[in-house]
Amino acid sequence: MKVGDRHYRTVWLEGSTVFLIDQPKLPHRFEITTARDHRETAVAIRDMVVRGAGAIGATGAYGAAQGALEAPSDPEGFRASFAAAVETLRATRPTAQNLFYGIGKVAEAALAELPDVAAAKRAAVEAARAVADEDAEACRRIGEHGAPLVGEGFGISTHCNAGWLAFVDWGSALSPIYAAHRQGKRPFVYVDETRPRGQGAQLTAWELGGEGVPHAVIADNAAGHFMQRGAVDMVIVGSDRIARNGDVANKIGTFTHAVVAHSLRIPFYVAAPTTTIDPACPTGADIPIEERSADEVLYAVGKGDDGVVRRVRVTPEGSGARNPAFDVTPGRLVAGIVTEHGVFPATHEGIGRALAARGGR
Ligand code: MRU
Repeated sequence: MKVGDRHYRTVWLEGSTVFLIDQPKLPHRFEITTARDHRETAVAIRDMVVRGAGAIGATGAYGAAQGALEAPSDPEGFRASFAAAVETLRATRPTAQNLFYGIGKVAEAALAELPDVAAAKRAAVEAARAVADEDAEACRRIGEHGAPLVGEGFGISTHCNAGWLAFVDWGSALSPIYAAHRQGKRPFVYVDETRPRGQGAQLTAWELGGEGVPHAVIADNAAGHFMQRGAVDMVIVGSDRIARNGDVANKIGTFTHAVVAHSLRIPFYVAAPTTTIDPACPTGADIPIEERSADEVLYAVGKGDDGVVRRVRVTPEGSGARNPAFDVTPGRLVAGIVTEHGVFPATHEGIGRALAARGGR
């Protein structure tokens, strides 16, 4: 998407360096940062310099390509060094399926070329670029399939950031909103601030502002009120992993929204590329849920009136905190899953059809 006059992707590779939009600096500063080897790339994923399922999928893929480029040129040395890099990258964050998909694609492509190490390195870079291109194109198509769900003048609730910053380009949940906005349907978006990391307040609001989409940031606990008062015609969120039975993991707080929307008969959609589906994960209960540092709850980060960005404690000294980063919404609460191949029911049968459409199991 465009920032100023220039089109950006969230992440890209030049030579053996990964370039990333520095997401914790937003919305106050737009900066590009670099990761010069697979270890720096792993740290960027772990520390959420880059975040969002598709974006970490592509970053993991580029990190694996770096791991291949860094590896020795004898086949056995390559195999051991590359495997260690892949393991480092896989251990960064546990929930988003796209991370494992992206790294897996690069590993498969590289290892298939052995014992020709030069070919393995070339294949790793090509596979990583293909993962990123596939993600961008899938998200563009999610916009095409999702836009018809958005009626004229719709009020739309969303949670977290499932926009272009969370992918390589376009986004999942925001892609249909961008498409509907460009079609002149005048959507209005209620943006949950998304404590504790504030992806809604900081990233979704910034993205929507950049595209000129009318919106209001609301406290997370205000969403039910706006739904009850008839301001919300649909909810659309992203997903980090979709189980085989249609259960979806997404940012913590999504489940609560889904329950409220369901009780008020407001359609609750999930938008995700099919690379978010984990065919090996039977139900939502099997999805690993990341628990992050308590500090993310105990402190908030923001810009003071003096223009300085700082961290402030918002809880009493001595209080502890729990910080699960994701929750699971049962498929029965989901009106449909918007993918690059169309909208599918969040059921075992629907997920089977989505997988068949992508040519998988
Ligand atoms: O912890 P994050 O910011 O990486 O979480 C990912 C998310 O932004 C979401 O939950 C999103 O809705 C799905 S990923 C596009």
